[in-house]
Amino acid sequence: MFTETLRLDEEIDRQTRVEYLDTILHESERLSRGRSFFWDGRVNSLEPQALQPIINPIELGLTEAELERRTGMKVTEVTAALASYVRTIRSGDSRFDRYAAGRRDSLNALEKAGLEVFRGEGGCTACHIGPNFTDELFHNTGVAWHDGRITDEGRFAVSGNPRDHGAFKTPTLRDVAGSAPYMHDGSLATLEDGVKFYSEGGQSNPYLDSQIRPRHFSPEEKRSLTAFLRTLSGKVREGL
Ligand code: HEC
Repeated sequence: MFTETLRLDEEIDRQTRVEYLDTILHESERLSRGRSFFWDGRVNSLEPQALQPIINPIELGLTEAELERRTGMKVTEVTAALASYVRTIRSGDSRFDRYAAGRRDSLNALEKAGLEVFRGEGGCTACHIGPNFTDELFHNTGVAWHDGRITDEGRFAVSGNPRDHGAFKTPTLRDVAGSAPYMHDGSLATLEDGVKFYSEGGQSNPYLDSQIRPRHFSPEEKRSLTAFLRTLSGKVREGL
């Protein structure tokens, strides 16, 4: 029994790290395109320590040759791409980052359970995905629905796309514990309120995103999810 739990734990671990690496590499390539500074040797000016938790996942057992084959870049280019990426994130040394980089003791059991809810039955990664926990897209979670109508059209006002009624950009969840109040209108005071909001399926309305539905979290799941969200806070890096 114990061994099985352990194995499951290791599997989740490995999966988290592989996904994390994939997204970072993808993002790195995307961001590095068309950026002239990217190839100019600026990588030497990076603080290697701050970069460490991010670069560590490439030690996942991938050989350099595999890494090059997988990315179509030289290892030094991958490193530079990662560096360029790290500059764009607000915070790169949260306990979650350390966990994703392979330090399993960085999250406690409750927080790991929260990560499972976040990725599993909570469905949060449908939108809060990647190292910054955002798909950079717009979704209707119902926050702007009041008294039977949308009080703020959000993205629709810009795009005119009927699918964007009351849709707002998925915010990053990095440092979310310190960024209350929540939602575009500040209508939720605490992280607990946020978790409750999703547990109840957001605010029902005709344009509600199909990924938002009642999840009926147990008190334990709510506690663990909130605890997990708190692990996304890290040192805020300057000069980004
Ligand atoms: C369909 C996409 C989608 C899913 C699924 C989703 N979110 Fe969100 N999330 C958003 C959007 C969009 C906002 C901003 C809504 C607004 O401001 O109107 C948001 C806002 C938040 C906020 C407030 C952040 C801030 O800085 O204001 C938190 C916390 C949050 N989500 C956590 C979660 C959790 C936990 C889950 C899973 C239970 C989840 N989200 C699932 C899209 C999503």
